[in-house]
Amino acid sequence: MKRMKIKTEHLGYRATLKIVLTSLSLFLLYSAAMAQQPATAQQSAKPLQPTNFTSFKPGVEWDGNDGVNIDCHGGNIIYVDSLKTFYWYGEHRGLPHGAACYSSKDLYNWKNEGVVMDKGNIGTFERPKVIYDAANKRYVMWFHYDGNGTGGGGYTLAEMGVAVSDSPTGPFVLKAHSRPNGHESRDIGMYFDPETKKAYIGYAADHTNKTIRVVELSADYLSFTANDVDINAHCEGPGILKKGGVFYLLTSQCSGWTPNPGAFYTASAIMGPYTDYGSPFIGDAGNNSFNSQPCYIFKVPGYKDAYIYMGDRWNGGGRPESQHVFLPITITAAGKMEIHWLKEWDLSIFTPENKRPQRR
Ligand code: GAL
Repeated sequence: MKRMKIKTEHLGYRATLKIVLTSLSLFLLYSAAMAQQPATAQQSAKPLQPTNFTSFKPGVEWDGNDGVNIDCHGGNIIYVDSLKTFYWYGEHRGLPHGAACYSSKDLYNWKNEGVVMDKGNIGTFERPKVIYDAANKRYVMWFHYDGNGTGGGGYTLAEMGVAVSDSPTGPFVLKAHSRPNGHESRDIGMYFDPETKKAYIGYAADHTNKTIRVVELSADYLSFTANDVDINAHCEGPGILKKGGVFYLLTSQCSGWTPNPGAFYTASAIMGPYTDYGSPFIGDAGNNSFNSQPCYIFKVPGYKDAYIYMGDRWNGGGRPESQHVFLPITITAAGKMEIHWLKEWDLSIFTPENKRPQRR
């Protein structure tokens, strides 16, 4: 009996020790995993879990896998073919301020990859745009770099910043910041030409955004070339697409966080000259771009002429919960840009590139 008791007690001690050690390792593993979670996910009280969306619902709260509205504004989406993944970059308007990144396989469901660049002591950090440099296997982010201060002080430096990362999910490291060829620069848009592999930035420029200029970037996308022209367009949030040899530029006017009627322009060369055709938003009762401001035009790979209008519904302030307005862009047979309101839609609206002609 005594032996048995001792053995039982001994086993009890070992079992207890095992439980303590297992709990400790689980705790350490959990802490390490939590330390790698995106900042917003840590702050969110909701558990991380994949979403199951099958459509876009413009202007409606759109949650990431952290259960809160996707806090990624004024940015752009890229598709990295080698990773078969979409990455969405934008302003992280919550804390910490800087660039947010979300990843997705289908454009509907997004995983929060965290803040990939903390703005640190940069006063104003807005409208980040990322391009993948396939030749050098790195990710280059351009953004509106500005100062601190109130009463417009956060917008007087008027520079562009450039940051680089080896991974799509950061961290992006600031390389330089300056005015492009000496011109003021605030809102920016990016256009990457898949045929020439050249990248261009459209930017709200001099005299406090009274015009838009387009600058061609160097071959490594890290600096400006001298090819930089005033394209005589106005004013902010520029997005560019190219269809059938025609460039379409979409812009907003200049009214801060308050939406206004957009305008589209066309040109046969990216540097212009551009012709103004007014608003492409059809049936826009509020005359305010369906209560949104453009930030980018995303060409969906694998579909014919599939362009998505990406806009922010700022609701009078650049808040983390500002909604997203994603809508398909149509280029009509007459060559005009049209954006119609859809309460809900999905990618089946577009024609797949590999779709075979119907059999009779
Ligand atoms: C908007 C601009 C935003 C932000 C805001 C500040 O016109 O598009 O990116 O700068 O003004 O008021």
